[in-house]
Amino acid sequence: MLAPMQGLTNRALRAYFIEHVRPDVIFTEFIRVNTAPAGMSITAADQQDIAAEQGGVPLVVQLVGHGREALVSAARVAQKCGAAHINLNMGCPYGRIGGSQTGGGMLRYPEGLAEVIPALREVIAGSFSIKIRAGYDDPDQILSLLPLFESNGVDFLVLHPRTVVQKYDGVADHGVTTRVMRETRLPVIANGDIRCAADGERVLSESGVAGLMLGRGAIADPSLFLRLRGLKKHNPGPAERREELGRYLEEILTSYGRLFCGDTQVLNKVKEIIAYLEEPELAKPLKELRRARTVRAFKTALDELC
Ligand SMILES: Cc1cc2nc3c(=O)[nH]c(=O)nc-3n(C[C@H](O)[C@H](O)[C@H](O)COP(=O)(O)O)c2cc1C
Repeated sequence: MLAPMQGLTNRALRAYFIEHVRPDVIFTEFIRVNTAPAGMSITAADQQDIAAEQGGVPLVVQLVGHGREALVSAARVAQKCGAAHINLNMGCPYGRIGGSQTGGGMLRYPEGLAEVIPALREVIAGSFSIKIRAGYDDPDQILSLLPLFESNGVDFLVLHPRTVVQKYDGVADHGVTTRVMRETRLPVIANGDIRCAADGERVLSESGVAGLMLGRGAIADPSLFLRLRGLKKHNPGPAERREELGRYLEEILTSYGRLFCGDTQVLNKVKEIIAYLEEPELAKPLKELRRARTVRAFKTALDELC
């Protein structure tokens, strides 16, 4: 599965992945649920991103919010807009989201979950999944929540085994993933720090999970999906890597030109992808790409990359 990544996995980037590496499942970026009683639970702009699939690949619509009524109402609206698969974000660690009862903050007040989870299950006709951290500050908290998820018909879990307070520090501890696998009959998708095919293979074999979700590793190298399926070399040589990267960024630059407005925005959005590229052997060309101030300068730097 391709991970939901707010600011990155927009429709155009998802289309690139669908065309070139075809993940089995894709997610929307998180969709904020409005809790103000008078407002629409999902904004009109967000509603436009909702569908059951994109390019024939199942599209999971991810909701982030709190409060039973607001979440139930948002799930209803999402389904009216065509959603067939709904995911609840119980992992986001940032800002007001993590600090309140929303996203990862839901794990800070687990007593509220006994209300929210059955209510969502009741209104979601298709698949209902949860994307979750290992715990708020205790990496074993997830184990205590499994009975609630199982008894309320959750279809699958996506586990990012860091705590909420940990944010992105340290490493994802897939030992937790293995413990969760031993204790639940729910399908578990492992997520976190899968940067190369060997990482993914290790997590699959050690934990026995049903599948993997790829985030930052796939943004840096979309072919990670193909490498994991054995359809491309695990580790490409430097020339091959440069060529792949050049073609990826060139195509994204073109499709972002259609989705976003004006050179500055297009350039900034492409640079958000480049922020996830860390290969030391590409340091020089990446620096040139980051320094480009116009689309034209960026294209020149791209020509030098390939
Ligand atoms: C820029 C950014 C945006 C993210 N946005 C979301 C989001 O909208 N919903 C969500 O559930 N997780 C979000 N995440 C978390 C990722 O989906 C994923 O769980 C996390 O990055 C760990 O996986 P990785 O190591 O493969 O990147 C985001 C992460 C990053 C870095």
